[in-house]
Amino acid sequence: MADTAQTLPHQRTDAEIIQQTDIVVGEFIGRKGALIPVLQTLQDIFGHLPELSLKRAGELLEIPYSEVAGVVSFYKYFSTVPRGKYLIRVCLGTSCYVRGGKEVLESFKNNLGIGIDETTEDQLFSLKVGRCFGACGLAPVAMINDDIYRRVKPSKVGEILQSYKVMEATDD
Ligand code: FES
Repeated sequence: MADTAQTLPHQRTDAEIIQQTDIVVGEFIGRKGALIPVLQTLQDIFGHLPELSLKRAGELLEIPYSEVAGVVSFYKYFSTVPRGKYLIRVCLGTSCYVRGGKEVLESFKNNLGIGIDETTEDQLFSLKVGRCFGACGLAPVAMINDDIYRRVKPSKVGEILQSYKVMEATDD
């Protein structure tokens, strides 16, 4: 594996999390159904929903934490764990599954050293399973953020990942 000088995302302090949360809640407070847009905005800012932020938002909106946590766990869109800069989704819909999607997934797991719903230590990649991206004729399919990869071969996964690592290294 090539040695790439990756920059870790800025780790926010607790004070920064509180400050950002206060600003976001301040924009929505008093509006009906404020919780969902608050959570969406916080996730956009932090990349996930830190517990501290959820607790603070609940306090300010006068919604019990148990209720806030319930909403977060109900919607798949929300995540309480940090997500990598590049979200990889490997399709395991029927067409992709029968054309080797599982092997493609295994190859991503092995190359990244993580499992499904996990993030690499450098916070560059997160791995998820998807269900049909509407490109079944070109199965097996994987997506990395908005980039779609068709007829993915397990042996090519390392090369695909390397292109993102190189991009990161040259971005600095
Ligand atoms: S099943 Fe994978 S794109 Fe449709």
